[in-house]
Amino acid sequence: TTNRTFTMIKPDAVAEGHTGAITKMIEEAGFRIVAIKKTLLTPERAGEFYAVHSERPFYNDLRNYMSSGAIVPMILEKENAVADFRTLIGATNPAQAADGTIRKLFAKSIEANAIHGSDSDENAQIEGSFFFAGTEQF
Ligand code: CMP
Repeated sequence: TTNRTFTMIKPDAVAEGHTGAITKMIEEAGFRIVAIKKTLLTPERAGEFYAVHSERPFYNDLRNYMSSGAIVPMILEKENAVADFRTLIGATNPAQAADGTIRKLFAKSIEANAIHGSDSDENAQIEGSFFFAGTEQF
């Protein structure tokens, strides 16, 4: 059945002008864009989004990186959305990402890895509502 995932294009990829190419890949892979915007996170809000990683050694860097420039969050819809989207973006570490994936094409490092994808239906719901009101989802 059709379900939803959440993604955001990260600051490095937005700054380098890859928003259009990445969005095109997402639509061509069969995802429908339910909500989209360009916005900026403060370090505090970036830390809140990634609170699950608060004990990890990379947490402080991640907060700074994710608030270093504009991001493009989106809610996406497709059959098997969460798993299929993670296949489309590839491994967290671009050195391990498969050919043709978004991270293989656009990620620069394990941190500046171009794009986020939710890891479960539950997190997709939580992360989507972090950025979008119900009235912004069509
Ligand atoms: P993402 O999948 O969005 O979720 C956690 C983010 O932390 C990850 O992408 C990277 O941007 C960042 N990160 C930085 N270093 C690491 C690491 N060693 N392992 C996993 N994620 C990392």
